[in-house]
Amino acid sequence: TNPIPHIFVIMGASGDLAKKKIYPTLWWLFRDGLLPKKTHFIGYARSSLTMKDLRAKTEPHMKHPWGDSPLESQMRPNFQQFCAALEIKEDEKAKAAEFFRLNSYQSGKYDVPGDFQALDQHIRKLQTSSGQANRLFYLALPPSVYHDVTLNLSKHCMSCDQDCWTRVIVEKPFGRDSQSSAELSHHLSSLFTEEQIYRIDHYLGKEMVQNLMVLRFANRMFSRVWNRDNIASVVITFKEPFGTQGRGGYFDQFGIIRDVMQNHLLQILTLVAMEKPISTSPEDIRNEKVKVLRCIPEVKYEDIVLGQYVGSSSAPEGDEARNGYLDDPTVPKGSKTATFVEAVLFIKNERWEGVPFIMRCGKALNERKAEVRIQFHDVPGNIFCPDLVQRNELVIRVQPGEAIYMKLMMKKPGMTFGVEETELDLSYGSRYQGVKMPDAYERLLVDVFTGTQIHFVRSDELAEAWRIFTPILHQIDTEKPDPIPYEYGSRGPPAADELREKHNFHYAGTY
Ligand code: BG6
Repeated sequence: TNPIPHIFVIMGASGDLAKKKIYPTLWWLFRDGLLPKKTHFIGYARSSLTMKDLRAKTEPHMKHPWGDSPLESQMRPNFQQFCAALEIKEDEKAKAAEFFRLNSYQSGKYDVPGDFQALDQHIRKLQTSSGQANRLFYLALPPSVYHDVTLNLSKHCMSCDQDCWTRVIVEKPFGRDSQSSAELSHHLSSLFTEEQIYRIDHYLGKEMVQNLMVLRFANRMFSRVWNRDNIASVVITFKEPFGTQGRGGYFDQFGIIRDVMQNHLLQILTLVAMEKPISTSPEDIRNEKVKVLRCIPEVKYEDIVLGQYVGSSSAPEGDEARNGYLDDPTVPKGSKTATFVEAVLFIKNERWEGVPFIMRCGKALNERKAEVRIQFHDVPGNIFCPDLVQRNELVIRVQPGEAIYMKLMMKKPGMTFGVEETELDLSYGSRYQGVKMPDAYERLLVDVFTGTQIHFVRSDELAEAWRIFTPILHQIDTEKPDPIPYEYGSRGPPAADELREKHNFHYAGTY
């Protein structure tokens, strides 16, 4: 039988997200044979760039590594970066040519119905003779055009065939507080069904984030201790060793709470804390996620620490680390936007009452790291030297270098009867040598093709996430408190360490 074609449309094809993430991901999936047969790709954006012309011009120069032919340097910078990100190797050239053949581009405005009708015509040309095709629209767009684009897509670009489907993939920001997010959700739900909407949080596509459910619910050893009786605190950390990197203008409108904490970190927290779902069906899982979110009271001002990075005077002359957030020319002068935040959340249910869930995230810190650290209570009735006996910790390292390790106390090997802390270490690099870890976007895009919504955010989940953060965000937006300065490349403001200690986290000096 003739397979139904899939038409993947990238709205905002000339933008940063498309260039850095979506196109490269589509190429990798195509190269590895992970897309349905007969998938076509259409880029849509305002600029009058045509994929076809560009390909004709550049194909003779499609070498790896890219970069120094005179023709290339005359090309549009976007396309050059796009090709570089594709990482096409010499032996993949034929495959790459095939990929390009399946790509086309159409320029159009975001608020002109006629342009969307033209897009629909474009799609129709790629359908089967009986008019069938599944349609996927990836909105790699700024929020300002979401409204118009979704409206026009729903009016002019939906598949009409009853055996075919249309799916719309949306990226954060999903609004900037409860109200704006509710408006957006209301708008989307007036145009599409929940089954058609795929809200991406790319952290849900990461190996170790997906592993959380298996770790918890397929290991009796963990499932029995996963509660307030055994766990003293949970720390979820996200650190980046670089600043805004020219994205300062965008970042400043949102700040670190909206950029990372309210979505990526809260999703991780939810998976750490939720009850066991009835099954692994997307609805059962997301029902549990919503339930645990509903048990979290709004974050209070006394439970957060805000920071903003300043240039490091010890960094070498000309180094990026010399520049503070306010030195980024795209950041408004005197901005008080936080680039670091630590927040303590509580879950008011039988399992977790009283256990602090501490989330912290920041830019321009000392290292790149994302991890979950579960710290257990002290050993009751300890008989060993109290200074030596540390709390057990279970650490789930999301990146870099996926790992699960457990900090345990052991007898110091040898003639002594001393105790020392050591690790039971399951590092993926050595344990699963040679296993390819797909990028989060690869996994998530395959899910959209196959119609699996487990790793996508449902609208009620989103509403709860905003409820938890909206009051504090409004307070920060109106009162504009001064964030605590911290040096580029440091561990962040010391006040954050103090806040963790206040909440019963014992700092062992190793993270
Ligand atoms: C994005 C944020 O959602 O996640 C960025 O907008 C951040 O500010 C990025 O850098 C981090 O993603 P990853 O996968 O590199 O950890």
